[in-house]
Order: sequence, then structure tokens, then C-alpha cells
Amino acid sequence: MKTSLPLLQLLLGLNLLSGLASSDPDPLQDYCIADTKASQSLFINGASCINPNSATSSHFTTSALAKPGNTSANRFGFNVTLANTANLPGLNTMGLTMARIDIAGNGLVPPHSHPRASEVTICLEGTILVGFIDTSNRQFTQTLRPGDSFVFPKGLIHFLYNVDTKGPALTVSGLNSQNPGVQIASIATFTSKPTIIDEVLEKGFQISGQDVGKIRRNLGG
Ligand SMILES: *[C@@H]1O[C@H](CO)[C@@H](O)[C@H](O)[C@H]1NC(C)=O
Ligand SMILES: *[C@@H]1O[C@H](CO)[C@@H](O)[C@H](O)[C@H]1NC(C)=O
Repeated sequence: MKTSLPLLQLLLGLNLLSGLASSDPDPLQDYCIADTKASQSLFINGASCINPNSATSSHFTTSALAKPGNTSANRFGFNVTLANTANLPGLNTMGLTMARIDIAGNGLVPPHSHPRASEVTICLEGTILVGFIDTSNRQFTQTLRPGDSFVFPKGLIHFLYNVDTKGPALTVSGLNSQNPGVQIASIATFTSKPTIIDEVLEKGFQISGQDVGKIRRNLGG
């Protein structure tokens, strides 16, 4: 049988395009303003919406990203402030999240991944070393100064490090999911509940039981 190569290529192309173009499902309405006061009795893929006739401009605006987060509140020296459906309900079903990331001098957003979103970040203040590792274990890394952007592909482990010892750094990110999810590699492996058994961590990281205990304690686990 003769295969229709152009047709096959077209189908493959369409398949790839549809797969790459969208992260979250496409909305079926102009907007679907999240009902932030709804009781959690109905569980759907996203947030339930208010009556569209009740929509106002205020549902599409927020000042949540105006103020820096407190970078002393965790041991790594960073703070992420989100604009999401909780404070910007008009984002619901749009496949978007925005994040303000404040990083103290020599603070680090430790290696982590977002299972449901790619992220593009723009450095607004300071000097930030960023990087991600692809699935062939290759690192792509860059030093960002104000005005520079960098993209972290969906699901890949990445980090942001303020290389300045004293001055704070600020970067703002857009993510293509309204619920990107985040897993910090060290926190997930050493402080999960219940914990991963020591033997697994000893073998997996080629360290001793004492090392496991020390890392766990250092991470607050
Ligand atoms: C971020 O800062 C806010 C206050 O600005 C604080 O309530 C919150 O706990 C901080 N979050 C983290 C993860 O440190
Ligand atoms: C930031 O967090 C630290 C530690 O939790 C706390 O001591 C400090 O008062 C906070 N600063 C502000 C401005 O909220």
C-alpha cells in the first residue's frame, strides 16, 4: 500500500502544534471569573465562576504584586508572591499565572520544577544567575540583569540565584497554567510526609544515614 506522506506529515504537524500550543484546556467563554467565595462542595477542573452579568473591571485587576514579599520568612532567602485566581479571579480558565519573586542578597530559589507550566521571567532589579537542566542532563544557564528575560521549559528543574551578596533582586514571571504546581527537589526528597526511607536516600544520593539526618534537619524536616 502506498502511504500518503504529505497527509501523514500534516497530521503529525497538527498533532504537534495542538500539543505544544496549549497547556491548560481552552476556555469556552470570554471569561469565567473565579467565585472566590464559593463553598468547596463542587470539585471541577479549575474554579467555578460567578454569573457573567456580575463581572466588573475589579475582577480583572490586582495590586498583589506591588509589594515585595518577606525574604526572611524562609531559610533560602526568597519569597514568591502570586497573582492567581484567588486575588485576580478574572484569570480563571485563561491558563495564566503571574509571579513576583523577591530574592535577598545571595538568596536562592532552590532547584524546583512546575509540572504544569513553562515559565518566562524578566529580571527587574539586581543580578540573577538562572539555569535549567534538560532531560539529557544538560544545563542551560545565564546571568540576568535588569531587562533580561529567560524561559524555563515546562516540567524541567530550574533555579534562580541572587549573585549579589547584599543587594536584593527582583524578577517577575509569567506561567502558562492557572495552577502551575511547584516541587522543590530537596524539600520533596528529604522532607516528604511520610518520609522516604533512609536506605532509598542513602543509595539515591550516595550518602550515609548521618548525612540523610543532617540534610533532613537542615531543611526543617
Ligand atoms: C512571603 O512573604 C509573606 C509576607 O510578605 C509571608 O507572609 C510569607 O510567609 C512569605 N512566604 C514564604 C514562602 O516565605
Ligand atoms: C519577615 O519575617 C521574619 C521571620 O519570620 C520576621 O521576623 C520579620 O518581622 C518579617 N518582616 C516583616 C517586614 O514582616
